[in-house]
Amino acid sequence: MSKEKPYPPQYYQDYLGLEKILNSQHLISDKYGNPAHDEMLFIIIHQVYELWFKQILFELDSLLGIFCKDEIQESDIGRAVSRLERIIEIQKILIDQIHVLETMTPMDFLDFRDFLIPASGFQSVQFRMIENKLGLSMENRYSYGGTDYHASLNELDQEKVKASESLDSLFDLMEKWLERTPFLNWGKTSFWDEYEQAVVEMLRDDRHLIQTNAKLSNTQKEKHLIEYEKTEASFGVVLSSKQHNKLVKEGKWRLSHKATQAALLILLYRDQPILYNPYQLLTKLIDVDELFTAWRYRHVLMVSRMIGRKIGTGGSTGSDYLNKTAEKHRIFSDISELTTFLIPRSALPQLPQEVENNLGFFYHVKGK
Ligand code: HEM
Repeated sequence: MSKEKPYPPQYYQDYLGLEKILNSQHLISDKYGNPAHDEMLFIIIHQVYELWFKQILFELDSLLGIFCKDEIQESDIGRAVSRLERIIEIQKILIDQIHVLETMTPMDFLDFRDFLIPASGFQSVQFRMIENKLGLSMENRYSYGGTDYHASLNELDQEKVKASESLDSLFDLMEKWLERTPFLNWGKTSFWDEYEQAVVEMLRDDRHLIQTNAKLSNTQKEKHLIEYEKTEASFGVVLSSKQHNKLVKEGKWRLSHKATQAALLILLYRDQPILYNPYQLLTKLIDVDELFTAWRYRHVLMVSRMIGRKIGTGGSTGSDYLNKTAEKHRIFSDISELTTFLIPRSALPQLPQEVENNLGFFYHVKGK
C-alpha cells in the first residue's frame, strides 16, 4: 500500500503565482488609445529585472547574516563565496538582456515615452536597496541638481530605502571582519618593515628599467618617472596610517587602514590553503563591483542610443548623469586597487611560525 504524502499536490500555475504575474502587464499606450507594440517588451524587461533584483537582495541578506556574526567559520566563508557567485551569474544576465531591449528602436520608444513621465528606473526601490546593502553611502553618491534620490520616491518607498541605509552594509561588515583577523598580529617580527624593504627593492628595479631603457627619449623617461613616483607615493596607503588618513579625508580611500593591511596580506599569502576562501571572497567582491559598473556603462550606452541627449523621463540630465554614477558608484574599488601593492612571491617575507599557527584559528575570532 502506497503511503500518502502529508501535503497536498501542487498545481504549477498556482505554485508560481502565474495568474498574478502574467496579468501584470498593463500597457499605458493602450489606456490612452494609442497602442504601442513595443511597450509590452519594455514592461516585461523591467519586470524581469525587478525579479532578478529580488533574488540578488535575497542573496545579499544572507551574506549580511553571515558577516554580522562575531565568529565566522570556514564553511561560512565558503557559503558566502557561493552566494556571491550566484549574484555574479545573475549580473551577467542583467547585462546581456539589454540586447533584447535594443531590438526596440528609438522611434518605437518615442511611441510611448511621454506617457511614462516621471516614472523611471531611477525610482527602482530594489536597485537602491542593493546599492545601500552593498555599501554605497549617501556621501559617496552623485546627486544631480542637489537633490538626493529619495525625493523621487513616495513616502512608503522612502521609508524602505532609508531602512536599508541605516543597516550595516556588506562593505561595513567586510571591513570589520578584515580588521579583526589575527593574521595582522605578526608577533615579534615586523612584517611591514620586511614588506617595505621588498617594495623599495622592487621599485628601485623599476626605476632602473626606466632610466636604462634605450628606446625611450629623455622626455619620455621624465614622463615615465613622474608616473613611477606617483606609484611609489601610493604605497603610503598601506605603509603609513598618517598618509592613509589623509587619503580618507580627501575622499580617495574608504577602507580603514587595518582592513586595508589585512586585505593586502590575504592577497599576498593567497597560496596558504587557509587563505584560499578569504582570497576568493575578496575576488568575488571585486567581480560584483565591476559587473555593476559594467551594467551601468552598458545601460548608459543603450540610453544614449535610445534618447540621444534628451533628458530622462525621471528628469535627470540622462546620459550625463548616468556616466557620472558609473564613474563614482564603485564600492569595493579599494580592494581592486590593492594589486598595485603586490610584490613577487620570491620577495615575500617568510610567514613566522606563530602566524602560521594563528591562521589555523583564522575564522574563530573571539571578540572584536
Ligand atoms: C528604453 C530603455 C531605457 C531608457 C531610455 C532608460 C533611461 C534612463 C535614464 C535617462 C535614467 C536617469 C534617470 C532619469 O532621468 O530618468 C535611468 C536611470 C536608471 N535606469 Fe534606465 N532606462 C531604460 C531602461 C532601463 C531598464 C530596462 C532598467 C532595468 C531595471 C533600468 C534601470 C535604471 C536604473 C536602476 C536607473 C537609476 C540609475 C542610477 O541612478 O544610477 N533602465 N534610465
